[in-house]
Amino acid sequence: MIEKIFLSLLIFILINKAENLKYNPDWSSLDTRPLPKWYDDAKVGIFIHWGVFSVPSFRSEWFWWDWQGDKPTSDVVDFMKNNYPPNFEYADFAPEFKAEFFDPLQWVSLLNASGAKYVVLTSKHHEGYTLWPSAYSWNWNSNDVGPHKDLVGDLAQAIRTNSSLRFGLYHSLFEWFNPLYLSDKNQSFKTQTYVKEKALPSLYEIVNKYEPEVVWSDGDWEAQDSYWNSTAFIAWLYNESPVKDSVVVNDRWGSGVLCQHGDFYTCQDNFNPGKLLSHKWENCMPLDNNSWGYRRNLKLSDILTIEEVIKSLAETVSCGGNILINIGPTKEGTIAPIFEERLRQLGEWLSINGEAIYESKPWKYQNDTKNSDVWYTTNGDLVYAILLKYPQSSLKVELGSVQITEATQINILGNDEKLQWVESPEGGVVIDLHSVDASSLISKWAWTFKLENISYQKC
Ligand SMILES: *[C@@H]1O[C@H](CO)[C@@H](O)[C@H](O)[C@H]1NC(C)=O
Ligand SMILES: *[C@@H]1O[C@H](CO)[C@@H](O)[C@H](O)[C@H]1NC(C)=O
Ligand SMILES: *[C@@H]1O[C@H](CO)[C@@H](O)[C@H](O)[C@H]1NC(C)=O
Ligand SMILES: *[C@@H]1O[C@H](CO)[C@@H](O)[C@H](O)[C@H]1NC(C)=O
Ligand SMILES: *[C@@H]1O[C@H](CO)[C@@H](O)[C@H](O)[C@H]1NC(C)=O
Ligand SMILES: *[C@@H]1O[C@H](CO)[C@@H](O)[C@H](O)[C@H]1NC(C)=O
Ligand SMILES: *[C@@H]1O[C@H](CO)[C@@H](O)[C@H](O)[C@H]1NC(C)=O
Repeated sequence: MIEKIFLSLLIFILINKAENLKYNPDWSSLDTRPLPKWYDDAKVGIFIHWGVFSVPSFRSEWFWWDWQGDKPTSDVVDFMKNNYPPNFEYADFAPEFKAEFFDPLQWVSLLNASGAKYVVLTSKHHEGYTLWPSAYSWNWNSNDVGPHKDLVGDLAQAIRTNSSLRFGLYHSLFEWFNPLYLSDKNQSFKTQTYVKEKALPSLYEIVNKYEPEVVWSDGDWEAQDSYWNSTAFIAWLYNESPVKDSVVVNDRWGSGVLCQHGDFYTCQDNFNPGKLLSHKWENCMPLDNNSWGYRRNLKLSDILTIEEVIKSLAETVSCGGNILINIGPTKEGTIAPIFEERLRQLGEWLSINGEAIYESKPWKYQNDTKNSDVWYTTNGDLVYAILLKYPQSSLKVELGSVQITEATQINILGNDEKLQWVESPEGGVVIDLHSVDASSLISKWAWTFKLENISYQKC
């Protein structure tokens, strides 16, 4: 009898275990997982590149590699020669990473004001320095050297207590100069010492400790996913981790995986294909055209204008993507006012035009057939046409993709006034803006036509 009860209990446990282990550690199984809805709805995220590279804050976050990697660049080599003693090492920058003005609640208030719905912080870039007190990064983490703080934990907590943004983490699989990695590489990645002792334990550590809902992997490309044990890790993430129901991962999990597998594709930096893709994707894009990390010699002309940011946002969302806009904080833990201004402008635009962005879907057409400054989204029965250039002189906007009906109504988001329009000779619509007092328009930089009761041109 006891044996019978014990046996049924065992079977019960095994069945339940099997049910929890829905996904196998291979791509054909992992690729069947439905995308968690929150991610597609969110559309806008903020990327944050922060680390020891924020101390020299010169050229880019690749500073160490550009100084001492395989092909040093002369600007970085000269910068070191001219400004530091000959025996100065990269690790000597770390004590200068003090983050003394880092105020997580102030960051959160700005991140929320940008209108973004999620944040992705570099927990560890290719330099290997961790922004959390990792058990696997002795004396090369933000608690032992530099700020003496758990930067990941402090930001995660502030985001969760003072906003409804989702928190995500970037994590570089490889480390340029890690001896264990270099030794595996030397043996054509037939050994996995670095993966077993460093990369995987770090990944499990950040997920268990900080429960990121985005795991944004990078630094994968020199080795195959089998070296990184990527599919085993992602299967654990989907089946058993504390974020198994809500987490999303990108596509940087080994050479050949990019643009092929993962919850969303990043394909390449600044990825913006200009056409609808059948798989969810993300455009990661720095506000500083030349660097993801902060640069002290940054110029205003290096920074995308708010018009450029909104254009990328409209193109991306129309084509089914999310946009991940990057800022690089300083070594002091401040966010430069120029980045702050862009994020606040973005938030201002989204506070008026957000119904065309959040939770929207790609429409029948992505860009207009007649007007290259118009990008479409849809939500329920409504269609939105985002106009990137206001026709100052003609005061007419022709939409070639739209077909009007008897019940069609058009207004600009932020202004309720119904607009005049006529059917164009080819069957589209010409919206007449003569009746609009341009100074009364609430939206700046780009304008969204809300189109009610329309159909589309069949081609
Ligand atoms: C953060 O949230 C707490 C409680 O949720 C609130 O008391 C506090 O005022 C908030 N702080 C800021 C800076 O918003
Ligand atoms: C976040 O921003 C939204 C809209 O931009 C605002 O309504 C909300 O009050 C903000 N939340 C916090 C906690 O600051
Ligand atoms: C790589 O291998 C060569 C010989 O096979 C050895 O001399 C060298 O020290 C190794 N380098 C590393 C980083 O393990
Ligand atoms: C990594 O994968 C190999 C086989 O691909 C497996 O033998 C090993 O146990 C895995 N290691 C970890 C730490 O997941
Ligand atoms: C950013 O770089 C791209 C490509 O190099 C260029 O087309 C664009 O004009 C630049 N924008 C700014 C603001 O520097
Ligand atoms: C926009 O639409 C036209 C077709 O109307 C197409 O030829 C063009 O490549 C599209 N994409 C962009 C980025 O303009
Ligand atoms: C027009 O669109 C609105 C909002 O989508 C909808 O409620 C209404 O039924 C539509 N009217 C007609 C005549 O189709």
